Amino acid sequence: MSTSITVRAPAKINLHLGVGAPREDGFHPLATVYQAVGLYDDVTVTDQPDWSVHLRGDDRIDLLAVPADDSNIALRAGRALVAHHGLERAARIEIHKGIPVAGGMAGGSADAAATLVALDRLWDLQTTDEDLLALAADLGSDVPFALLGGTAAGLGRGEVVSALPDTGSWWWVVVGSEEGLSTPAVYGRYDELVGPPDPLLPPTVPDIPRPVREALAHGDVAWLATALHNDLQDPALDLRPDLRRTFDDGRDAGALATILSGSGPTVLLLAEDRAHAHALHLGMADRGHRLLSVVTAPVAGAHHVTYV
Ligand code: C5P
Repeated sequence: MSTSITVRAPAKINLHLGVGAPREDGFHPLATVYQAVGLYDDVTVTDQPDWSVHLRGDDRIDLLAVPADDSNIALRAGRALVAHHGLERAARIEIHKGIPVAGGMAGGSADAAATLVALDRLWDLQTTDEDLLALAADLGSDVPFALLGGTAAGLGRGEVVSALPDTGSWWWVVVGSEEGLSTPAVYGRYDELVGPPDPLLPPTVPDIPRPVREALAHGDVAWLATALHNDLQDPALDLRPDLRRTFDDGRDAGALATILSGSGPTVLLLAEDRAHAHALHLGMADRGHRLLSVVTAPVAGAHHVTYV
């Protein structure tokens, strides 16, 4: 039996993010298209008498912004899995972060998904996929997608995921920001900008438009460039007007399209192919941007990488 297991989980971006009026529980109904991209967190779990979280990452990652106490989402994932099986076990959870913190790329959700998969295997719990997805949904709206990976539709508050046909091999330049952005704050600003819903009208139910589905199914990058949409982009720009420069620089550098990642502040530049992505990377570096990554998509969801 392994004593230590490492699971890798990807960052996500949203190719479409349609937001409806807030529900009674405060969450917003979403119709989103998730895509898993090649930026990863690695979670290593080791059987221990007590729970603990240890954070690592390169110097581009703001590790101090991640809680290392009981509120850490990976630790909450571990506890939820143990409770689900009625066990009394604990583990040391070591997280190596490659996904920007508070960047709108679901780094915390990746950690939670990776922890569920890693502990399930460490202790041979054989949790069903259905139960893993339900545990993931309780932890956060984006956690089920981090299990699934690839390209998927997200409905409900984002937690109801289903794979979408995607024949493309996509190249993105990820432009990070020195400072994070709070997801609840962006949703709050969205509500302020949209205003209260008209009580005489039925509540708006967002859906996933056809063009984005078709662009993905055909693997057509020019089509995808015209189909990207994010309802949280305006509220995020309202809170962080400095991001406008990143969008302008992305367009000047020749991106096919620019879009905010989730609730931001990470900005994504769509590239034609690998060479174009590297040219965009250089163009953004010339314009003074430092937190740059070239990534491909779609990539797999949470998966084992090491058994020791
Ligand atoms: O589900 P998660 O914990 O990732 O959500 C973080 C916060 O983002 C929520 O507390 C809520 O303020 C906001 N949110 C929302 N509607 C969603 C998803 C998230 O309002 N569908």
